[in-house]
Amino acid sequence: MAQTDLARLVMQRIDALAQISEESGKLTRTFASPAMKRANELVGSWMREAGMSVRTDAVGNLIGHYPAATPDGKILLLGSHLDTVRDAGKFDGPLGVLIAIACIQQLNETKTRLPFAIEVVGFADEEGVRYQSTYLGSRALAGTFNLEDLKRTDARGVAMADAIREFGGNPEGIAGAKMDANRLLGYAEVHIEQGPVLEQKNLAVGVVSAIAGQTRARVIFIGQAGHAGTVPMNLRKDALAAAAEFVLAVESLAQNRGGLVATVGEITASPGASNVIPGEARLSLDVRHPDDAVRVKATGELNQRAEEIAVERSIALKWEVVHDTPATVCDRRLTLLLENAVKRHQKEAPLLASGAGHDAAAMSAACPVAMLFVRCKGGISHNPAESASEADVRVAIAVMNDFIRESGKTN
Ligand code: GLV
Ligand code: MN
Ligand code: MN
Repeated sequence: MAQTDLARLVMQRIDALAQISEESGKLTRTFASPAMKRANELVGSWMREAGMSVRTDAVGNLIGHYPAATPDGKILLLGSHLDTVRDAGKFDGPLGVLIAIACIQQLNETKTRLPFAIEVVGFADEEGVRYQSTYLGSRALAGTFNLEDLKRTDARGVAMADAIREFGGNPEGIAGAKMDANRLLGYAEVHIEQGPVLEQKNLAVGVVSAIAGQTRARVIFIGQAGHAGTVPMNLRKDALAAAAEFVLAVESLAQNRGGLVATVGEITASPGASNVIPGEARLSLDVRHPDDAVRVKATGELNQRAEEIAVERSIALKWEVVHDTPATVCDRRLTLLLENAVKRHQKEAPLLASGAGHDAAAMSAACPVAMLFVRCKGGISHNPAESASEADVRVAIAVMNDFIRESGKTN
């Protein structure tokens, strides 16, 4: 099939996959959900069509294997994630998996076997929506999965271990899902840019230099529920008012520190009635900066501020860091290969830093990693309006075809 048709096929598959959701009328696919199972089945069928054998590992990663010319060859890993945020765009994650499958399809149709095998991974959890602890899939493959996380519960109280079992996975087998790092040539991920730089430069694709580190925390203010009509204002222990003060403190600290981004994306107040003073407020906090020292310092200051707010209001505070990853620098050799491939298909190969997290960050614990970004319409992502064009997907497929052929040569 010509590259033009493969790009169209990727776009059609992106649309088909976007229909698989756990919420009607919007795209939401969280870790170990029935929607993830259906997505794995559909993507698995596309992997088989492209000439791969397919397996699902203990944590729920979908893995397609395309054999090497000789059985003792090493493995090049390609892929991205199949889970999504709530009310997601359809390109974040699936784009990288489907472009990888398209490249394998091309190899298979031209009966090309390389000196190394290729495995395409649809990672089970990059967004961390359900358990806030991201990279569950890639950590399992890289051997850095924290088995303590299996005890974490989701919003409905379901422990991660039970969710994995329900999905058909095997929590006891996660340690064994680790890939043999000695066999890995590297991991390359295509991803929608999720920012405006390539659009501003009028370029289809760019190469990622580094991925910012991130800290996520669960913050809980515990006050006292009471009657909204009878408790005087000066005697209240309103947990939601404390949370509101904290949200503004987060915004103000990030606004005043260059390059820092900090977000409270979730907040719930309970018991949650218009005539009850909120007794408890739970927030999520997400802090990022390209420089780890700045992120760590800012997170410490925010923790301190939350404690001050709690003391001033005579309420309690619980602060739990649920995710903490350092910044990742992409591998120089693989990145150069990608840059050279990009220069064959467009006038320049810009290097971009990623503020978003990616499975490549977790995979870097096991092997060299590189990433290719694809232009994102209006820079909009984590939003149903997220969009990439077929023409840009065509360029990305061509770049990855070149990259794949080159990547085994000098290792
Ligand atoms: C993943 O999309 C992230 O939150 O960076
Ligand atoms: Mn995302
Ligand atoms: Mn993503």
